[in-house]
Amino acid sequence: MASFRILAVVLAVATFSYACRAQECNTLFTFNGSAVNFTKCSALPQQSASLAWTFYENNSTLLVGFAGTAPSSSGWVGWGINPTAQASMVGSSTLIAFSATNGSNVLPYKLTQDVKDVNVGLACSPIDLIIESSAVEIQGTSMSIFAALRLPSNQTTLNHIWNRGSSVRSFQPLEHGLSREDLSGYQTIDMYTAQSLGGGKPPHHNLKRTHGIINTIAWGILLPLGVIVARYLHPFTESLWFYIHVPLQTLGYLLGVLGWALGMRLRAVTSAAHKSHENIGIALFVLATLQVFALFLRPNKDHKLRIYWNYYHHSIGYIIILLGIINIFKGLDILSPGGNWKSGYVGSLIVMAVVALVLEVVIWFLYFKKRRDEGLP
Ligand code: HEM
Ligand SMILES: *[C@@H]1O[C@H](CO)[C@@H](O)[C@H](O)[C@H]1NC(C)=O
Ligand SMILES: *[C@@H]1O[C@H](CO)[C@@H](O)[C@H](O)[C@H]1NC(C)=O
Ligand SMILES: *[C@@H]1O[C@H](CO)[C@@H](O)[C@H](O)[C@H]1NC(C)=O
Ligand SMILES: *[C@@H]1O[C@H](CO)[C@@H](O)[C@H](O)[C@H]1NC(C)=O
Ligand SMILES: *[C@@H]1O[C@H](CO)[C@@H](O)[C@H](O)[C@H]1NC(C)=O
Ligand SMILES: *[C@@H]1O[C@H](CO)[C@@H](O)[C@H](O)[C@H]1NC(C)=O
Repeated sequence: MASFRILAVVLAVATFSYACRAQECNTLFTFNGSAVNFTKCSALPQQSASLAWTFYENNSTLLVGFAGTAPSSSGWVGWGINPTAQASMVGSSTLIAFSATNGSNVLPYKLTQDVKDVNVGLACSPIDLIIESSAVEIQGTSMSIFAALRLPSNQTTLNHIWNRGSSVRSFQPLEHGLSREDLSGYQTIDMYTAQSLGGGKPPHHNLKRTHGIINTIAWGILLPLGVIVARYLHPFTESLWFYIHVPLQTLGYLLGVLGWALGMRLRAVTSAAHKSHENIGIALFVLATLQVFALFLRPNKDHKLRIYWNYYHHSIGYIIILLGIINIFKGLDILSPGGNWKSGYVGSLIVMAVVALVLEVVIWFLYFKKRRDEGLP
């Protein structure tokens, strides 16, 4: 079927579009006019940030340079270490750079669970590491941090995180973005080899991806195709349209409920709130469920109420399609999956829209032709 071919193309394009970009790093940093040549460096995989360091194992001192780009010159970049279990935001001891009225600042911030979950504000606070010295250099949106830190002894790997945000209010950096890239700035790195030992996938990556793909197929492809079949095959076929429409909508609904349930699960396990995306999702679930149960109340074909049932069924159907597509775009904006996922979906929407438009013209043409043939005005 054409629909599956389109789907296959969309999925193939999206899969192959994850290009591997070669990255380079530089050991040489300049702070406050003087150059520092570190021994190791790593181009970090997100936000075009980079890290360079020299590790003195005999006294556990890490000299580190971090270079990042803030979203705006009034924004911030931050880098830090999570000395505990793993590289993640909560528990990290960070240094954050930004410009303020008194000049360029790099200040320490400890990231707690409350900062992440209830956005209590991020005030400057003592961190779990001894900072022997620190410096900052800011030029527009390019911000670099230099620090000499004392690490717990015997440490050879570093659980580090980095991020950036677009504003700072009274020395409190405000929340970073929540896109895929903005939630991927964490890594475990071997300080001797500069190799990454893991990290870099946003939290709940697989759940988010599955939720996105299943919902796009269900609400964004199967259900609209089912409507296209019903509207444009109906005038030509006695009952064939019905035997295609019903399985498409049933499968679309079942997958849609599965995708919706994954969304509810995501809502429970992540602390990020996406109010309108969530509300539209719940409205879609309710409307689609009503649509299914209304089938059992469908009056007979020649009952005088049947026409009102049809109006009801059609209008709810169109609202579901419209809201579904809107919510897919909201979801794409939230996850910003990169690659060609978004353009792939826009492409399949255009194909469906063009098919629908052509068929729309055809059925109106046939309608007027029939009226003329029957001698009606
Ligand atoms: C300013 C206040 C901050 C707020 C309100 C905040 C909020 C959040 C939230 C809600 C998430 C999880 C989103 C999800 O799971 O979908 C998150 C993840 C993350 N944040 Fe923050 N954040 C803040 C500051 C920072 C800073 C300063 C850094 C780094 C310097 C940072 C680095 C990260 C990283 C790397 C993740 C993804 C990995 C993880 O969840 O542990 N955050 N943040
Ligand atoms: C910095 O150090 C690296 C090796 O650690 C060396 O190859 C490079 O030439 C140095 N750069 C400068 C400007 O000293
Ligand atoms: C640590 O080693 C460096 C050279 O690698 C040396 O210059 C320094 O004096 C040593 N520090 C201590 C405390 O032993
Ligand atoms: C550790 O050793 C390095 C290299 O000699 C030195 O620059 C640094 O000040 C030392 N730190 C401490 C805490 O001794
Ligand atoms: C600017 O003021 C803040 C808050 O008083 C202070 O913590 C910080 O060290 C100051 N920064 C500079 C560069 O003077
Ligand atoms: C930058 O250099 C000037 C003098 O060259 C010095 O007075 C100042 O303390 C330095 N600032 C930092 C943050 O290192
Ligand atoms: C940590 O290093 C010290 C020497 O600095 C050594 O005696 C000790 O056994 C090490 N501990 C571990 C767990 O490797």
